Amino acid sequence: MTTTSAPWVYPTFLAHRIGGTLAPENTVSGIDVCVKHDYRMVEFDVRLTANNVPFLMHDDTLERTTNGHGMSNEWQWIDLYNLDAGSWFGEQFAGEKLPALYQMGIVCQRHDILANIEMKSCPGNERRTATHVARALNMFWKDRWPLVSSFSQEMLAVVRECAPDFPVGMLFKDIPADWKDIVKRLDCSSVHVKHTFLNAEIVKEMHALGLKVMAYTVNDVDAAQALLSMGVDHICTDRPDLLRC
Ligand code: G3P
Ligand code: MG
Repeated sequence: MTTTSAPWVYPTFLAHRIGGTLAPENTVSGIDVCVKHDYRMVEFDVRLTANNVPFLMHDDTLERTTNGHGMSNEWQWIDLYNLDAGSWFGEQFAGEKLPALYQMGIVCQRHDILANIEMKSCPGNERRTATHVARALNMFWKDRWPLVSSFSQEMLAVVRECAPDFPVGMLFKDIPADWKDIVKRLDCSSVHVKHTFLNAEIVKEMHALGLKVMAYTVNDVDAAQALLSMGVDHICTDRPDLLRC
């Protein structure tokens, strides 16, 4: 379906938020987990600082995964860079930094690890965030073929327009009735679906449109096997120690 020239080079399993539940999420420490368990691909979440630096973090707010406070998009990068993004997870991770998107590109390249970059945004910030992510992709991620995904159609449309070399995947929780129109309009290469909403029939329909299918977040061996039997192409997991590549 897609018009991107990117090769589809992604392995079956990828680690959710870089190290799954085995390292502080969306940090460089998760890469050690992947190396240990022979994972060649990670998923991580990206959002934007007040001064337009794309960086890795899942939540809108800082409290859960850092020692900072408030909305992440209201801070400058220098303030966020000085936060501790590891202590909440364990003392041995004290001092862990929030990575910028360009820094994670260097780390992934060094370890030969592929990436699924999920764009997130504080409400109302979608277009600006996606514009700066697209800029960072063009500057720092060329030839690394990251797969760019989002729950936001608006953000994916910006990436298709501003960074057309990169394949995009539409994220769904439940699968909406108009999913075919959405993926066609955005020229998607893949659909990423909450695993409980997938079945063999819908996977076949997705494949018939030329789409790859990713299931998230799968932390159980039997569930992963069932999804692969349905024809699911990729599995995003918090447990790279349990689900073997
Ligand atoms: O990309 C799959 C998954 O990461 C989407 O959910 O909330 O963990 O970012 P979330
Ligand atoms: Mg995510």
